[in-house]
Amino acid sequence: MTKIPHRIGILTSGGDAPGMNAAIRAVVRSALYYDMEVYGIRDGYLGMKRNEVEPLDAGSVGDIIHRGGTFLGTARLPEFATDREVREVCYSTLREHGIEGLVVCGGDGSYRGANLLQKETGIPTVGLPGTIDNDLGYTDFTIGFDTAVNTCVDNINKLRDTMASHGRVSVVEVMGRNCGDIAVHSGIAAGAEAILVPEIHKTDNQWLDYIVRKLRVSFGRGKKYGIIVMAEGINMTPKMHHFTADYIASWLNANADAVGHRVDARGCVIGHVQRGGSPTASDRILAARMGEAAVDVLREGKTNLCVGIRRNRIITTPIDEAVEMKNHVDKHLIALADILAR
Ligand code: F6P
Repeated sequence: MTKIPHRIGILTSGGDAPGMNAAIRAVVRSALYYDMEVYGIRDGYLGMKRNEVEPLDAGSVGDIIHRGGTFLGTARLPEFATDREVREVCYSTLREHGIEGLVVCGGDGSYRGANLLQKETGIPTVGLPGTIDNDLGYTDFTIGFDTAVNTCVDNINKLRDTMASHGRVSVVEVMGRNCGDIAVHSGIAAGAEAILVPEIHKTDNQWLDYIVRKLRVSFGRGKKYGIIVMAEGINMTPKMHHFTADYIASWLNANADAVGHRVDARGCVIGHVQRGGSPTASDRILAARMGEAAVDVLREGKTNLCVGIRRNRIITTPIDEAVEMKNHVDKHLIALADILAR
């Protein structure tokens, strides 16, 4: 047990995710309910370094539950992990403001920072999984994932309209770094012919064979267009850098014989649009539940835990363990996508 903090800080760090605002709101209002004070730190660890800290009250987090992004701002500060002097500057900010506990909302890089901070300062820390990637193995879902999937589905629906009108094939790249969850979930929800994820290891030629097989099946049953969803992680290794949505589309256009059908394919990278937009109800509720749980962790005198959800129950896991846990793409969902695309 550590000292129960009275004044806590909150920051959002790394890539923003829809629902971060809802999470900040939940932390602030839960903490105030228990007579704690909350300070917002701007732009993640960068704001800590620059001493950009402000008190937050219930009104400060009004009118943000429905907004995408993070009103505190976010940044990536790689030096935090590598440079002790940078960290010392950050720590002096926390000391100056009398911050006795810290909530960090972000992905695995942000968690590693929180872990270091806790070990070096003794300040109790708690992590909230704020990332669209859903790549944290200890939790079934991260805040922002559901909204990002819905954004992808919405975009793919629109592509589907034009692809269907022209009888084309769309090769759509979605985000997620090395995690294929956004691709799998949006691919199933959008009725994709083929879904490419980095957790399945194939060479470029093996992926092309797979796509061709899937297109042959759907053209064979009379479909006039196609949707291929690929996770960006597919082309993140140097060996696969060339394997972009445009490359696959051009290859298909040049190899219509293999598909056995006229092919007019286009590549589309959805990009950062996936990180924006109003969070879904599901992400807001997840953020509310997790935000409250983060405050509970600090109130109970616990530290160095991150909040997650497993089988719809809020759980906590030691941050050092969480950052080492690999996310495993749901093999059943991949098999299901395959069955449904026949
Ligand atoms: O981690 C969230 C994420 O959106 C990834 O899906 C993506 O690869 C990355 O961030 C993009 O980072 P940046 O915003 O720095 O281009």
